Amino acid sequence: MSDHLLEVKDLRTTFRTVAGAVPAVGGVSFDLGSNETLGIVGESGSGKTVLARTIMGLQPRTNVEVTGSVLLNGHEVVGASERVMRSMWATEVAMVFQDPMTSLNPVMRIGRQIDETLRVRLGMDRRAAHARALELLTMVGIPSAASRYRAYPTELSGGMRQRVVIATALACSPKLLIADEPTTGLDVTIQAQILNLLDTLKQQFSMSVILITHDLGVVATRATRIIVMYAGQIAEMGDTRDIFYHHRMPYTRALLESSPKVSNASHTRLAVIAGRPPNLSTMPPGCAFAPRCAYATEQCHVERPTLREAAQPGHRFACWNPLPDSSEGTRP
Ligand SMILES: Nc1ncnc2c1ncn2[C@@H]1O[C@H](COP(=O)(O)OP(=O)(O)O)[C@@H](O)[C@H]1O
Ligand SMILES: [Mg+2]
Repeated sequence: MSDHLLEVKDLRTTFRTVAGAVPAVGGVSFDLGSNETLGIVGESGSGKTVLARTIMGLQPRTNVEVTGSVLLNGHEVVGASERVMRSMWATEVAMVFQDPMTSLNPVMRIGRQIDETLRVRLGMDRRAAHARALELLTMVGIPSAASRYRAYPTELSGGMRQRVVIATALACSPKLLIADEPTTGLDVTIQAQILNLLDTLKQQFSMSVILITHDLGVVATRATRIIVMYAGQIAEMGDTRDIFYHHRMPYTRALLESSPKVSNASHTRLAVIAGRPPNLSTMPPGCAFAPRCAYATEQCHVERPTLREAAQPGHRFACWNPLPDSSEGTRP
């Protein structure tokens, strides 16, 4: 058996729509070790959420085809029944969504939402669940947890609500936490607080984290490895350092240049990546990024590049005409 907590192999999620098949995840493979933080980055529409939901086994069964494999702590998720998935949700894997209100019941006091998870999933009695819920609320940094316990979600700020969602997700100490743009709707200071909190909790709960974002700056200091997605596929992947300093794929560079946290001067205008992502149901035969790429050659428009190895171990990119690796010229 491998020592990876998560192994994803040639994962494909295709929606059947009236407009044709939409390959939202088009053959993604990667693995994740214990206590590792993996960043998944890409523009809106690149397939990040569909990938996360597929790993969670959350896709509906009608009009969706999922193939490939997702091994989570040795259990196969692809094709697993809902009963099997229910036994894994919360204890093996939990997810924090972008909008906290997707996960919270607006008419239930927040403490009770956590209590309920503990009672249903772990079979705790009322008293034990109550005590643990208070403990979890305190751990996620909610001041005066005892009184907030009785609050309704709408009585809390966005940041506090996201903390409640995180507390609920962690209630059963999952081995893997998937955080899908957990800070996107929040203002910058709160964003940093939530990301720091996730870092701290990752240590406390010794779990692995998949941190999904459209902003490379968010994962710069938090992820050990990064996957850059484009049009449902991996455009580049590698150690965080390599993605920042040795990226080869022009799309990765474009993402870096469009990140408010990475581009240095805070008042310079953000570079926006020109053009739009392709329509997935009518994907061109070549590289999906070619129509927007300043470096595209003839070949890029006709032949799809597959991932190839870069100089650094574990660093791969899918590009026919890559940027030069600045480190290569300086090697003895
Ligand atoms: N239920 C669905 N039916 C058809 N297409 C979908 C469905 N859900 C997502 N998609 C498509 O899949 C692609 C990826 O979406 P998503 O994973 O939400 O992107 P991201 O999270 O990176 O912004 C988009 O083109 C989106 O329109
Ligand atoms: Mg998304």
